Amino acid sequence: MKDSIRHLIQQALTRLTAEGVLPEGLTPAIQVENTKDKSHGDFASNIALMLAKPAGRKPRELAEQLIAALPADPSVSKVEIAGPGFLNFFQNSDALAERLEAALADSKLGVTKAEAPQRVVVDLSSPNLAKEMHVGHLRSTIIGDAVARTLDFLGDEVIRQNHVGDWGTQFGMLLAFLQDQPVDSAADLGDLEHFYRAAKKRFDESAGFADRARGLVVKLQAGDPECRRLWQRFNEISLSHCQEVYDRLGVQLGPADVRGESAYNADLPQIVAALEAKGLLSESDGAQCVFMDEYQNAEGKPLPVIVQKADGGYLYATTDLAAMRYRSQTLKADRVLYFVDQRQALHFQMAFEVARRAGFVHAGMELEHMGFGTMNGADGRPFKTRDGGTVKLIDLLDEAEAKAEAVLRTKNPKTVVQNGQLGHEHSREKSPPPAVMGKSDIKEIAKAVGIGAVKYADLSKHRTSDYIFNYEQMLSFEGNTAPYLLYALTRIHSIFRKLNKQISDALPGRITIQAEHEQALAAKLAQFAEVVNAVAAKGTPHVLCSYLYELAGLFSSFYEHCPILAAEEAAVQQSRLRLAALTGRTLKQGLELLGLSPLERM
Ligand code: ARG
Repeated sequence: MKDSIRHLIQQALTRLTAEGVLPEGLTPAIQVENTKDKSHGDFASNIALMLAKPAGRKPRELAEQLIAALPADPSVSKVEIAGPGFLNFFQNSDALAERLEAALADSKLGVTKAEAPQRVVVDLSSPNLAKEMHVGHLRSTIIGDAVARTLDFLGDEVIRQNHVGDWGTQFGMLLAFLQDQPVDSAADLGDLEHFYRAAKKRFDESAGFADRARGLVVKLQAGDPECRRLWQRFNEISLSHCQEVYDRLGVQLGPADVRGESAYNADLPQIVAALEAKGLLSESDGAQCVFMDEYQNAEGKPLPVIVQKADGGYLYATTDLAAMRYRSQTLKADRVLYFVDQRQALHFQMAFEVARRAGFVHAGMELEHMGFGTMNGADGRPFKTRDGGTVKLIDLLDEAEAKAEAVLRTKNPKTVVQNGQLGHEHSREKSPPPAVMGKSDIKEIAKAVGIGAVKYADLSKHRTSDYIFNYEQMLSFEGNTAPYLLYALTRIHSIFRKLNKQISDALPGRITIQAEHEQALAAKLAQFAEVVNAVAAKGTPHVLCSYLYELAGLFSSFYEHCPILAAEEAAVQQSRLRLAALTGRTLKQGLELLGLSPLERM
């Protein structure tokens, strides 16, 4: 709808230019926003304010001329001038109802991609295998997964790449330790953090061990079969820990998505040679570096991208260059998104620039660092256990589920969750007899709520901000939280259950929009496609979270003011039921795009 309004304005501008009201050669970016207050219509544009000066007219005067020049459109019922010269557009209720009918008839709710489909590489999770996965990788995993799901839904071809850190000098130490005490199973290596620390301790204490470790790195990198075997074993076990986290989180990542740093090992000499051939390399203290004029440190000294150390070893950036080349030449990506800590922003800016100058990526390939902030503890410092250790992700998820179960039980002291009875029931309609749930149900629900709460708390914050991890807040049934939204959806399901129907059923009647609360809900429902597109374009799931939260709130008021089951006329009941079904399906789809597990009852 915003696009069609933009188009109408464009036509009016063309006409006013032809009539000499506007000077030739103006190409303003036409902005159209959703209004906050429905008394100002549904959409607003500041175009008259922007063009008043070049047109040499007062904004309100130009606004009047624009309105007169706007072509008629059946989906716009009226256009008004507000304040200093804003144009407010009111959408026609019948046209809006038609759009919602089309969404209801479509398994994708009328959502299509605004631009042509692309092949998109999503670089996500990417933990270092030497250590336990930590909370930083939790953010990358959750946000990357939500955006990948959204791109998928819009019809892009998504290639997930888990760029794990499985190569580097720390592996010598781990292999030496592994030689001393062979491990056979994931259980033996149950605590990677512990294993890593024990190896490091021996490395620091024993010169003999340290020498052996250094020798093993060289052998490993030279392809020694025994070293390779041990290394392989270590990675398998370590990756199985990661997989456990992915499965618990319900994240769409599997072994086939892993393409770690080691996969690019053989390409690294070529990368350096190619940079040399392009004349991009210079030597600095024996290291091979790329210097670019725009990149300097605080003292104004040139800042290098180091691609090979004096001892011949390669670096993180070298591998990223090789990965970019692979993603361009082999995967033929149109777009590559990196879900990596914001603190690596400079690394990516510089690496992207080197890749472009070296021609490692095709000119049309978009490279975007989707940086994120830090997840902090209550003290505002990076999240740690009480004794200051790193928090194991599995423990964190266990705790979230246990706390969710406790919350669910306080909502229902008899450990019986009754159909539609949890939290506040705003409805004036009578509930059906309670559906009694057993213990296994409450465990399942606690899992969806607990894991969903952790994921949603992360996704609902602006990606680049730091945030404070807080179980109580994320498990609250009030506010912009997973429990609130999951519960809002179950309430819609329960309306349909009362009629022996489901939200996905074909329903009789047509949507007609009459009451104010119907209008507000309908206008919000019509924004879903635009919101999903924004998430895909900018990698910002929080936009979808806010949308779903607002939608659930509008549904609640609608349900309070516009009775469904008690509606007097059949046509009105049918129309409202259709609105409820579309709301339910939109909430469900939205939650799925975020990677949450929607529930039918809680
Ligand atoms: N393993 C890295 C880390 O833990 C993240 C890798 C991100 N992806 C990439 N292509 N550099 O910091």
